[in-house]
Amino acid sequence: MIGVFDSGLGGLTVLRALRARFPALDFLYLADHAHVPYGNRPAEEVVALTQASIEALFGSGCKLVLLGCNTATAVAARVLQQEWLPQSGWRAKGHNILGIVAPTVEAATQTPYAVTTPQYPQKNNTDLIAVFATTRTVSSGVFPEEIRKRCPKVAVVQQACPGLAGAIEDAASEAVLEQLVIEAVAGLMAGTGGRPPHRAILGCTHFPIVEHLFRKHLPPFTRLLSQPEAVADSLEDYLGRHPRYVAGCDGGRLVLRTTGDAAGTTRLAKVFWPDVPAFGVV
Ligand code: DGL
Repeated sequence: MIGVFDSGLGGLTVLRALRARFPALDFLYLADHAHVPYGNRPAEEVVALTQASIEALFGSGCKLVLLGCNTATAVAARVLQQEWLPQSGWRAKGHNILGIVAPTVEAATQTPYAVTTPQYPQKNNTDLIAVFATTRTVSSGVFPEEIRKRCPKVAVVQQACPGLAGAIEDAASEAVLEQLVIEAVAGLMAGTGGRPPHRAILGCTHFPIVEHLFRKHLPPFTRLLSQPEAVADSLEDYLGRHPRYVAGCDGGRLVLRTTGDAAGTTRLAKVFWPDVPAFGVV
């Protein structure tokens, strides 16, 4: 099985795109509802919680785990990939972890995998890219860092949305969610001095659930990038190069687990993914 992890429901926006793209693959989704939201937690906590969930997924037979969470990717992916995987012995057993920031940035900058030096026309691209994300993702600086590696002249404006992922998890009313999005867009536009961004990245996997509200309040000029589709494109490319992760993983199974309340999670998930299977507990 391929593991997909998020602090809560947000990763389902990614999982849904993966399920549509790879209907024959087996996926095991783990949501850490016991600790959601991650976005306002200290970095060390995010690393420890992410590691524990990845271990649970590895222990359940997933050789490949995709972090369907920008906060976990921004804060924990590098240290877990470069230090914990080799030291824990999982790498030697063939296990791996993938994040979702790089694929998103590749789509936003149209700079494909493994291009490390900016090429024309990206080198001279002076677009403005907006990033909406959790406080922790914004403070990590990972989106601007990865964008500038590819397009040094692109301007990046980040906007933290501290309450939004939590409000989505709490099934807040549309009016509450819309107010949070209005505030986020107003904060962003203040940061750009009123200049409409060329593209906006919803850099938290919970946010596509309220994408219609971002679309409503962002300037019409601004194109919204689909992170789930970008991640599906990138995973397709990765699995093509690493077919061993697909071997024996082709029963089309979809298993969902949470560290929290399975019935409540299933109810809420169905609001935006009507045919999602029921969650079980870990
Ligand atoms: N959905 C996650 C993300 O992409 C985390 C949100 C949270 O737990 O704060 O950042």
